[in-house]
Amino acid sequence: MNWRDAIRAAGGAPDTRGRAAVPPAQPDQEEAMPKRKAGPPAAPVVPADSPIHVPVTQQGATAESPLEDVPAGLVVGGASRAIFEDPAFKLNSLEEIAATVAGCRRCPLYATAINPVPGTGHPDADFMIVGEAPGANEDEQGEPFVGASGQLLTKIIGAIGLARSDVFIANVLKHRPPGNRNPLPEEVTACSPYLVRQIELVRPKVILALGTFAAQTLLETKLTIGKLRGQIHRYYGVPLIVTYHPAALLRNPAWKRPTWEDVQLARRILDRPQPAADA
Ligand code: URA
Repeated sequence: MNWRDAIRAAGGAPDTRGRAAVPPAQPDQEEAMPKRKAGPPAAPVVPADSPIHVPVTQQGATAESPLEDVPAGLVVGGASRAIFEDPAFKLNSLEEIAATVAGCRRCPLYATAINPVPGTGHPDADFMIVGEAPGANEDEQGEPFVGASGQLLTKIIGAIGLARSDVFIANVLKHRPPGNRNPLPEEVTACSPYLVRQIELVRPKVILALGTFAAQTLLETKLTIGKLRGQIHRYYGVPLIVTYHPAALLRNPAWKRPTWEDVQLARRILDRPQPAADA
């Protein structure tokens, strides 16, 4: 059973969308981007009929390493009924998610935010980027990563031949925490189903988690970025790479080099031949 089947078996809506072409290859890329998705990423081996919500987080237990020289990391997601029974899993498009987020009252952040920031980009992106939460600029404009760190993010993905219109960008939280304070656990719990559903709808080939908060939240771990980098984790079956948040890079340029290595790794995952789809 692949990850989408597992999601459907756990109560998620079936995905009936056709697949759009992947973003155009850049002329200076060494290797052209594959023209379309060949199939879903391999699934973690998790019983889909498990009745309880047990986050499946294991060190290298079920993830095969798709690039032989890169260690497999943590595996998160599977038969998480608590998430898949969430009403967010009845939302059948990114637009529906955005509309629902706009009226969301699951946590108090809507009351202090100016705008919802549900996420933006290519609805069929092979490359998905997940940050922490909107900041002041994002709150004003209703779009993720539009401030100084967003400009740096645009350069970072440009370095691997991607434009913002090629990727889908979302945050763990869809409304700005006042004063940019750290997200609270109950806010993350309330908002997470939107992100999981976005990932399920976009079906990226790789997720890039930016910064400690996104990485630790998605991977359900307290391990540091230093320990999480350089591995191929799995989030609901999708390969996930961890790197530094662009805001941290603005403060500490020494992290540019490791970030470059991380995005190169993500690019390699994008470029690798896809395993055949399960029957
Ligand atoms: N930082 C984030 O994590 N997300 C944004 O959208 C902007 C800044």
